[in-house]
Amino acid sequence: MNLIAPAQTLTSADLTRLRADFPILAEKVHGRPLVFLDSAASAQKPRAVIDAMVNTMEHAYANVHRGLHWMSERATEAYESTRDAVAALINAPDRHEIVFTRNVTESINLVAHSYGRSLLKPGQAVVISAMEHHSNIVPWQLLRDERGIELRVAPISDAGELDLAALESLLSDGKVGLVSITHMSNVLGTYVPAARVAALAHRYGAKVLFDGAQAIVHRAIDVQALDADFYAFSGHKLYGPTGIGVLWGRRALLDAMPPFLAGGDMISTVSYERTTWADIPHKFEAGTPAIVEAIGLKAAIAYVQAIGYEAIAAHEATLTDHALATLAEIKGLMVLGRAQDRGGVVSFTMDCAHAHDIATLLDRQGIAVRAGHHCAEPLMHQLGVDSTARASFALYTTPEEIDALAAGLRRVREFFT
Ligand code: ALA
Repeated sequence: MNLIAPAQTLTSADLTRLRADFPILAEKVHGRPLVFLDSAASAQKPRAVIDAMVNTMEHAYANVHRGLHWMSERATEAYESTRDAVAALINAPDRHEIVFTRNVTESINLVAHSYGRSLLKPGQAVVISAMEHHSNIVPWQLLRDERGIELRVAPISDAGELDLAALESLLSDGKVGLVSITHMSNVLGTYVPAARVAALAHRYGAKVLFDGAQAIVHRAIDVQALDADFYAFSGHKLYGPTGIGVLWGRRALLDAMPPFLAGGDMISTVSYERTTWADIPHKFEAGTPAIVEAIGLKAAIAYVQAIGYEAIAAHEATLTDHALATLAEIKGLMVLGRAQDRGGVVSFTMDCAHAHDIATLLDRQGIAVRAGHHCAEPLMHQLGVDSTARASFALYTTPEEIDALAAGLRRVREFFT
């Protein structure tokens, strides 16, 4: 790994060294250098993550928690050490509160199933916001339809910021059992003031779950400082592998919740008459887990921590300012969302072209952006669009790539007008 000196931000020399850690960034697409501006969908992987996974499969692989042999013990130690790394990353008070899932979607489904179906009662409500990903909408709709739990939606302002006063009024009748909300919008880049949301939720007797899929990539997360009850994130957006995600929950809640998936590893004893559950976190980790992926996640966490969130956040703030200023100069281009506190995700439309056409023409120039509804159709409806193009930034993104995006968008404009 190309470590940088502790710094407030990343210099261009730092960026050159860091980019060399990501083999894929040297690829060409359609004969052009890859300009990868789709990291909010899934980030690229540094060599440290790739090596950790290959090394495991070549030298230290076996199933975990089962074998009384050397290989299984090594694999179990490595897999379990990721739990410690995650606990330290988010300042969880207890490593047993870290549950491995496949991704945020599974983490939210776990809470909807195990918390929602046992600890919420018909007549109670779940509050989400108007800028949620489908993965934080649909599980609650299933719960609503099956269990009579009301689903309430906290509105956002025209700038794309959570309306805290409206959230409070949704909470004020005391019927809300859970606020489940994004920590950072994958469409607008808006950060939700998480500690204030948690304080409001608790004031009215509700628990709070944060979908941290985007936020954890850009900011240090401290679940105790936020006073969260649940926090979910995916490995693959944090420069780690796909197939491994995290649900952190307070021990008292996780202890009170029944299992989500049933099978091996999550039991204490089984007979045909009765089965008892393992303690947390294993109660929620049925079957052979994503062993190699968990080990890759630990390497990703170490990579991010070696650079430091302070430097990453400062770099991405500079990139976002640069992108907003540069895109504002392109005729007919409209950026969606003007939140004061926003991260490195910029969604936009152009009056001359559909988002899919924008993405296709950019791709021909080697520039990868996402186009579509970004799994947030209700938000698209509120914004009055059916889709947007979205550029998203990572620690390896350079200002020159944003300039390349702007130049590419000017070519899109020329082509369509
Ligand atoms: N949720 C991911 C995104 O916003 C896939 O692109």
